[in-house]
Amino acid sequence: MWLIVLVCCLWMAPSLGQLPPEIEKCKAGDSICIAETVTRILRLYPNGLSSIGLDALDSIGFENVVVSRMEPDGHSTLDLSFHNLTVIGFADSTVTEAKGFEADLPRVLELIGWIPLLKLDGFYEMRGSLLTMPIHGKGQAQVEIKECRVRCKVRVLEDLRGDGKVYAGIAKVKCLLDVQGMHMNFDNLFNNPDMSEAMNVVANTKWLEIWHTLRRGITSAVDRLVESILKRVANKLPYDDFYRD
Ligand SMILES: *[C@@H]1O[C@H](CO)[C@@H](O)[C@H](O)[C@H]1NC(C)=O
Repeated sequence: MWLIVLVCCLWMAPSLGQLPPEIEKCKAGDSICIAETVTRILRLYPNGLSSIGLDALDSIGFENVVVSRMEPDGHSTLDLSFHNLTVIGFADSTVTEAKGFEADLPRVLELIGWIPLLKLDGFYEMRGSLLTMPIHGKGQAQVEIKECRVRCKVRVLEDLRGDGKVYAGIAKVKCLLDVQGMHMNFDNLFNNPDMSEAMNVVANTKWLEIWHTLRRGITSAVDRLVESILKRVANKLPYDDFYRD
């Protein structure tokens, strides 16, 4: 029994925390190469890559996502949350710039890129007012976000481990989002199919205003998502092992 465990661990050890051979490493500081490599990893492994701690990005499930919460000061007039939510499209992200990826672990990394189409599907609950009209509803919703431009700043701390290697401790992620279009369909608004359809038509013609209302909540959900993805990878792949010698 112990022999099996031992053999199995020895066999698995070299594949832990390493980039697979088909991913060519970049020189530290080569921001173009690094942006291309990150994009290549996303394209080749939409279902994730456990050897570097990368989770599946093709379809991501969430529970209890608060997108907007009414505030007494009137800054927000809407309660909107999803009991459950599936997001499809992150795996098609293209990273266009990767700043700060130097040989010595920097304090801030920056990733800039875009996602052609994000599809959100889940069970929503909404109450309050939207576009100055009262609104309430509960049911399935689909939201499509077109050409989402993303810029994320990642604060990192050095994590020197017992194996003598430096890992990047991900302290904080803050992203900025900008979108070129949004299409929504909230089923069962006002518990009335005709009013629901009419409201969705109005919402879609005024999508930019709605985006401004929801942007803060969506951005903070993206911050948490990017943070959890990076944390898992940074926890598994030593910082130096990301680069060519
Ligand atoms: C989402 O939540 C709703 C309401 O609680 C439930 O009916 C539905 O089955 C859930 N969907 C998934 C995919 O879990």
